[in-house]
Amino acid sequence: MTRLASRIAVVTGGARGIGRAIVDRFVAEGALVLVGDLDPDGREIEAEHPGRVLYQWLDVTSDTDWRAALTAVEKVFGRPDIMVNNAGTSRTGTVADTSDVDWRFVMNVNAFGTFLGCRHAVRLMANTGGAIVNIASARGQRPGSTQCAYSASKAAVLNLTESTALHCGENGLPIRCNAICPGVVETPLMRRHLEGLNDAAALATVTGKQVISRLGTPREIADAAVFLASNEASFITGATLSVDGGFRIRDL
Ligand SMILES: NC(=O)c1ccc[n+]([C@@H]2O[C@H](COP(=O)([O-])OP(=O)(O)OC[C@H]3O[C@@H](n4cnc5c(N)ncnc54)[C@H](O)[C@@H]3O)[C@@H](O)[C@H]2O)c1
Repeated sequence: MTRLASRIAVVTGGARGIGRAIVDRFVAEGALVLVGDLDPDGREIEAEHPGRVLYQWLDVTSDTDWRAALTAVEKVFGRPDIMVNNAGTSRTGTVADTSDVDWRFVMNVNAFGTFLGCRHAVRLMANTGGAIVNIASARGQRPGSTQCAYSASKAAVLNLTESTALHCGENGLPIRCNAICPGVVETPLMRRHLEGLNDAAALATVTGKQVISRLGTPREIADAAVFLASNEASFITGATLSVDGGFRIRDL
């Protein structure tokens, strides 16, 4: 399959979970991929896709790291034309009990990290064009009281996606910017969240909030990322694609 043939992609948080599935699907579609992650396990993916994946240690909240990662990918593969801002984190807490530290940590990784990725992508792709895909969350559209900081950070990602798309359009930059809102997906992040709820019935409670009451798979999110990054989505920008098993519309 060659829907992303000759394309060069940056995928943040690509060492595991949804990001990992995106890397695998992008490679299968012909792309060369830089995996930017602060988990050194990401290096193992290089061996699995020889010559097609480059791992670079990257903390998405550090502009210095971003510069190093983008220099590395340009040197090895060339100028990226796909940016997937997937790296994310979460903390459980309501507005009453979320600490300053937790709020700043979640906003820093999810909102500021995605902002840095969008800013670099817009500058890099201004002449040559490309696609930005931001991984937000269904919680960015329907906040959860016990995920106060996380929900707010993902709402920020959705708003940023639209302002980035507007900026590109208003300035004639051939760059599309879209977001995906996953529902509950089987990944290490989700497993940690369920443990945090400290409830044996937590899984059923969480998946029961969707129309399709099962965990989504990382592959299902990755398929949507391939679509939005590819030319099949050439008339789509500023959009939010829900891949959430119907979470957003349930019990509205
Ligand atoms: N799993 C879900 O149910 C779900 C639902 C909605 C949205 N999401 C979003 O999807 C994205 C991926 O989530 P996941 O479930 O695969 O998470 P995960 O924890 O399984 O993987 C996240 C990856 O991001 C990396 N990462 C974390 N902080 C980073 C940083 N500062 N710099 C660089 N890399 C960093 C981690 O090392 C890890 O490899 C996140 O943005 C998350 O908010 C997940």
